[in-house]
Amino acid sequence: MLIYPFKYLADSVQVSINPDSQGAAIMDQFSIADRQRYAELKSESKKQEFLWSRAALHSTGADLKYIEYQGKKPLTANGHISLSHCKNGVAAAFSEKLDVGIDIETKRENLVRIAQKFTTEEELARFNCEPQTALQFVWGIKESLFKLYGYGSVDFKAHLEITTFEWDPESRQGWGIAWVGQTCQERPEPLQCLVQTALVGEHYICLATHRIPTVPFESKRTVLREWVPSDAPWLYDLNMNPQVVRYTGDAGFTSTHSALNLIKSYPNYQRDGYGRWMVIDKSTGNPIGWCGLKNNPWGIDLGFRFFEAAWGQGIATECAVATVEKAKALGLSSLIGRALSENIGSWKVLEKVGMQRYESLPIEAFAQDYNIAEKDLDSWKGQMLHMYKLELL
Ligand SMILES: CC(C)(COP(=O)(O)OP(=O)(O)OC[C@H]1O[C@@H](n2cnc3c(N)ncnc32)[C@H](O)[C@@H]1OP(=O)(O)O)[C@@H](O)C(=O)NCCC(=O)NCCS
Repeated sequence: MLIYPFKYLADSVQVSINPDSQGAAIMDQFSIADRQRYAELKSESKKQEFLWSRAALHSTGADLKYIEYQGKKPLTANGHISLSHCKNGVAAAFSEKLDVGIDIETKRENLVRIAQKFTTEEELARFNCEPQTALQFVWGIKESLFKLYGYGSVDFKAHLEITTFEWDPESRQGWGIAWVGQTCQERPEPLQCLVQTALVGEHYICLATHRIPTVPFESKRTVLREWVPSDAPWLYDLNMNPQVVRYTGDAGFTSTHSALNLIKSYPNYQRDGYGRWMVIDKSTGNPIGWCGLKNNPWGIDLGFRFFEAAWGQGIATECAVATVEKAKALGLSSLIGRALSENIGSWKVLEKVGMQRYESLPIEAFAQDYNIAEKDLDSWKGQMLHMYKLELL
């Protein structure tokens, strides 16, 4: 059956779990590589398993004719595929754009015994579910990352790290961020992945996806690019200036380490395909702030924040214009913006990129919904929150 038991990326990834077996009916669609593999299988049960997995792949929409192999990893020229088997279970994933890795498991009693080989206490503590479920998911996520990566030898403990995980017991779905670290000289860059899990009947299912990072883009004086771990001290310093966070309601960071944690667990690029981007001054090569998009439940927000030294030179406006162009290129249909009435620079930037103000409400009206801290509410007393919208289509 074609189901998508995960929270995110239903538009970009097709997943099939335990489909009705179509048996020999799909054999005439096999690629040459798959025909050979099938012919080499000795036991009837292996043949049945093979057919079932191809039925799963077929129902994701992947064209079986183009399946090839790189070692054990199945590939297709039309996108990315991944397959997994376990007792009474099969899962397949297909995406045209995203790298994918999928894993399906039943309960494995031995995971407690071998846990120290593939995870750490620190990592397990990030899993807000009961211990066996946590172990199942850490294992399954790492299997799915390994399948996605498909390269060289990967040590599950040393090279794969799950930096955040959130489990919803009601929907029996979870998600988080994970990294594949440097495994060898040929793969020097860490790879950020979105990981998702689900408990479907007796099966633990994990999906890892990787989206190619946004190519840096430019305004006249700046370059906008994704945050990287070495930006942590800059983000920390930015938020430590009370003038900078005066109207933003941020608690700030307690250390550069907490800024690093934010960067390492930041899901937006992988989940949405965009996020807040670091702004680099072309003349010095140093970060001067950030500007970008944020997918909020109430709309995709255009936001910005710069070091005080960069204010008053039109930098925010030029970066906001570049971001709006980027949003158009991404095919987004509209953007929103919000700014406090006293934060004149901020709402002027929104207006300068063509946003229309459609409402202004006293800030107190947002106190409950947005968890605004008591101290901020006091200092913002009497201010209005200006709300803006920009149609892009
Ligand atoms: C708000 C902020 C991004 C503006 O950046 P900036 O680079 O100074 O903005 P620009 O130079 O592009 O200025 C845009 C317009 O706002 C005006 N402006 C900027 N700061 C202003 C201020 N403090 N008071 C009045 N007008 C101001 C500029 O004069 C310009 O208008 P103009 O073209 O009519 O002269 C910057 O002050 C900042 O980073 N503040 C801290 C973070 C923050 O509040 N972010 C927004 C949260 S909603």
